[in-house]
Amino acid sequence: MIHFAQQVFHLATNNTSYLIGIRNNKYIENLYYGNKIKVTENYEALQERFGTGYGNSVGTPDDAMLTLDNLCLEYSFGGNGDYRHSPFEIRMPDYSYSNRFYYQSHEIYEGTFRENEETKLPYARYGEDATTLEIVLHDQKEKMDLILVYTVFPSCDVITRRTILKNNTDSVVRVERMMSLQLDLPEADYDMETFDGSWTRERHATRKHLESGVYVNESTTGSSSNRHNPLILVEKRECTEMTGACIGVNLLYSGNHYEAVEVTPYGKIRILTGIHPHRFEWFIKPEETFYTPEAVLTYSSKGRHGVTAQFGTFVNQHIIPKQWQKRERPVLINNWEATYFDFTERKLLKLAKEAANLGIELFVLDDGWFGKREDDSSSLGDWFVNEKKLGGSLRQLSNKIHDLGLQFGIWMEPEMISENSELYREHPDWAVRIPNRDCYVGRNQYVLDLTRQEVRAEVVGRITEILRNGNVQYVKWDMNRHLSDAYSASLGERQGEFYHRYILGVYEMMKQITEEFPDILFESCSAGGNRFDLGMLYYMPQIWTSDDTDANERVAIQEGTSCGYPLSTMGAHVSAVPNHQTLRSISIESRFNVACFGVLGYELDLTKLSMSSKKIVKEQIAFYKKYRALFQFGSFTKSRMHNGNIIWQVVSEDKQQAIAMCYQQLQKPNTSSDILKVIGLDPEQLYHVEARKQAISIKQFGDLVNQASPVPIKEEGILQTIVNQVYTLESESESYDVYGDLLELAGIKLKQQFVSTGYNEETRVMGDFSSRIYLISSKAL
Ligand code: DGJ
Repeated sequence: MIHFAQQVFHLATNNTSYLIGIRNNKYIENLYYGNKIKVTENYEALQERFGTGYGNSVGTPDDAMLTLDNLCLEYSFGGNGDYRHSPFEIRMPDYSYSNRFYYQSHEIYEGTFRENEETKLPYARYGEDATTLEIVLHDQKEKMDLILVYTVFPSCDVITRRTILKNNTDSVVRVERMMSLQLDLPEADYDMETFDGSWTRERHATRKHLESGVYVNESTTGSSSNRHNPLILVEKRECTEMTGACIGVNLLYSGNHYEAVEVTPYGKIRILTGIHPHRFEWFIKPEETFYTPEAVLTYSSKGRHGVTAQFGTFVNQHIIPKQWQKRERPVLINNWEATYFDFTERKLLKLAKEAANLGIELFVLDDGWFGKREDDSSSLGDWFVNEKKLGGSLRQLSNKIHDLGLQFGIWMEPEMISENSELYREHPDWAVRIPNRDCYVGRNQYVLDLTRQEVRAEVVGRITEILRNGNVQYVKWDMNRHLSDAYSASLGERQGEFYHRYILGVYEMMKQITEEFPDILFESCSAGGNRFDLGMLYYMPQIWTSDDTDANERVAIQEGTSCGYPLSTMGAHVSAVPNHQTLRSISIESRFNVACFGVLGYELDLTKLSMSSKKIVKEQIAFYKKYRALFQFGSFTKSRMHNGNIIWQVVSEDKQQAIAMCYQQLQKPNTSSDILKVIGLDPEQLYHVEARKQAISIKQFGDLVNQASPVPIKEEGILQTIVNQVYTLESESESYDVYGDLLELAGIKLKQQFVSTGYNEETRVMGDFSSRIYLISSKAL
């Protein structure tokens, strides 16, 4: 709902208020953002006061005391005494930066922004209950309009924002910086949380204490990147996981992005997000419009978890394509870590057969099925099936996979070109490079110049041809390098448009391909999670979270990711041990327990598993399928036990069912009890809590097994290996009937962990990197 009275706009979601005032009929002032408040028609109490002005600061032409530098503005155009970080810089035809944008008019209407499709960018959609406000700021002299667009999504407490510039002059205007959102707030006691990392280490949450200065979160790699995700949280110092004020900001964009939080000299903060100004310049011709990407804003007084939950609902309801909302995703087997490039038709079918036996539903053929690709040095761009390697056409292979009862999917990397490829030999100029300069490579490949229409058309043609003929139900769309050598032969003096045009080109291709094949499940990927953002999720409902499949690393990666993106978007696979990224060995049960909080897959050579491991995997898959809706669409919460052990939980919408996982990084001997607390169930309902039975390898006991075994079993000996292949121990039985309030407030004191030689029915055998899953169901069910 958006209400306007007495020069004040009240943007109200179910639980929050966002108040904007028009001051002196010119300036757009932020009056409040936070929990919903009752506002009278007199808004004076919310306005900043300027009594005698502020020393040497600059006043406005019509009110010398009014220091814009100390006013919470909704958008600042600079050069007017506001010295904070500016959201906006444009060069006028006379080369000046001389704008004056003042309030001119506004419009409020039902639904989302009318020009969303014209933007050529992904946007928040399906806004049946949404309302939009457009505030037009006008520059009288230059005849330009700067429009601030707000859309309110009431039920998920989200407000989106974007900025538009309309050039009504008769000359070209150059935009050098134009942020999607500026949010000025009147207090400065905040921390900032960002989601940082690198390849195989994506989105680790980092909390920074904000003192005076400007804190920047950015990417200039051409993608939203694994270095710093566009998601940021700005939280009050006292904010915890479940309590305190937290603001979440994200950007619906997959290219270079820039977020800044400035603690200003007057003890306020300014938050900015938008396209990165790095090497950015956009020419707006007369009568043309420039649209920024849409920024997403949410507020919760219920801590980081409040923001996580609101973003989760928002993504599931307003970002991912309708046909995939609430649609359960198949359990897949991916051959990448099972075979890498070294596969034959026989090997693939053997793997698929084993997968089908274990209950897997989708077989994904990863890199290496096209051109002459036997390693990563060739063939990108040659999207023609290597029939020799596959023993026939893609359709023939797909049919054989279908005959085993599995769906079939393939890997692609449409944005790239290998130097050693037919495509490059035909079109060397299609690779992104600066003329007459040596060219930087990444993973032996170049990036295709997708700013060019003819390049996009050729790639789309080749890909759609494959999809039309291949009998394919799933595509993994990969992108394995950062951009460099940014230049396009087609752009001339407009090279500053390269990065943004590249991502617009990617979006256009994704739109064409995903719209032509709405029933294919697309999973986006970029060397793992290098492009995990809302823009990608608009086209493809899930993303390969990270190339790192080590369960212990995944705990940090998936936790960080969950702060802005729901579990239904995160691809999570069980892989082999020792893990291929870390060489760490974690039990198959714990690898599964972590992976099932997401979209589950397996990525290892199942044919090499022991009999006992196959039995375990079969049971895991059956368990996951039974509770898949909960794992993919339940409300996710992360918390910590008093001793630091991790709890992840998912709760169904009706609170009748939940699953909790307790994960222990390192075993500490003879210490306090683990206390399992589960948050957000119905306090009045009685629940049955039961530990999922897990297999425990006898190898975990080493030599200690001889304390119980009638025959001596040598550690690492043949007997131990043979026994281990066919036989495992069962984890403890543990169950309780308790009310929801007990679970949340007191928690269950779980059975004692194994210590020394004391092992019996009452012991939980855990160890390092170990975990348990607890099923919680209402007794009323
Ligand atoms: C990077 C991806 O993240 C991997 O899962 C795999 O698909 C490789 N690319 C294939 O080249």
